[in-house]
Amino acid sequence: METNKTFIKQFTHDMKSPLATIRVVTDELKRQMTTNEDQKECMMLLGLSVEQLNTLVDKMLKKMNGYEEKTSYFDIHEVLDTVVKEFNCGFQARAVVFKKIYDHIPLICFGASFRLTQALRNIIKNSLEAMDHSGVITMSTMRDGDCVSISITDTGKGMSEETKKLIFTDGFTRGKKNGHGIGMTIVKDVVDELHGFLDLESAPGKGTTFTLKIPLVAGSETASLLNPIYN
Ligand SMILES: Nc1ncnc2c1ncn2[C@@H]1O[C@H](COP(=O)(O)OP(=O)(O)O)[C@@H](O)[C@H]1O
Ligand SMILES: [Mg+2]
Repeated sequence: METNKTFIKQFTHDMKSPLATIRVVTDELKRQMTTNEDQKECMMLLGLSVEQLNTLVDKMLKKMNGYEEKTSYFDIHEVLDTVVKEFNCGFQARAVVFKKIYDHIPLICFGASFRLTQALRNIIKNSLEAMDHSGVITMSTMRDGDCVSISITDTGKGMSEETKKLIFTDGFTRGKKNGHGIGMTIVKDVVDELHGFLDLESAPGKGTTFTLKIPLVAGSETASLLNPIYN
């Protein structure tokens, strides 16, 4: 086990070098390209993916060295907006409409916001795959007592009762060529880490809704806990 850990650490560390090269080359190509819009979009996407990969590698190395993920107060709507923006600048979601139905008050939680980002990325990635990259994804938020309720609904193919039962099992994948069955375990772990609850509604041909209920910070509606975003 210990040997495995050392191996993973060393491999992860060495991923940094090629990543740094890709980063430099991407920046240079971006600088050289000024006219073609499609190429510019490609470069932007490449840049974003490299950043994401780099952040993940850094976080993995820190975790393996015993550091815990950074915690802070964070605004649910900001996290959702960031994730939607990421998907919106890719080709994967070109034929997808993201609808936002947000509560009108700021909804502040406490924890490792990056982990929530990871969970949302995985939910949306699955939605895109279930919709064959075309349809509507609705993200809604609502204050529900001491919690915020975040729902992500897709217009995809939905899932059977059997899939619903097994979906949070490590390694469970269904109907995909290159599935690994890890995304949903990330979602479950993140919700647990944030002391929340997870709900799933889905039926074949009827789309899917994931609802994450995360505890709010007391008095969060004043938003005074955050930087001057709402003040
Ligand atoms: N939004 C969704 N619509 C339909 N099926 C889904 C959805 N989200 C997850 N699933 C099902 O749950 C399975 C497990 O998902 P996941 O853990 O992310 O692994 P993977 O995507 O690698 O298969 C998927 O293979 C798929 O069958
Ligand atoms: Mg997945």
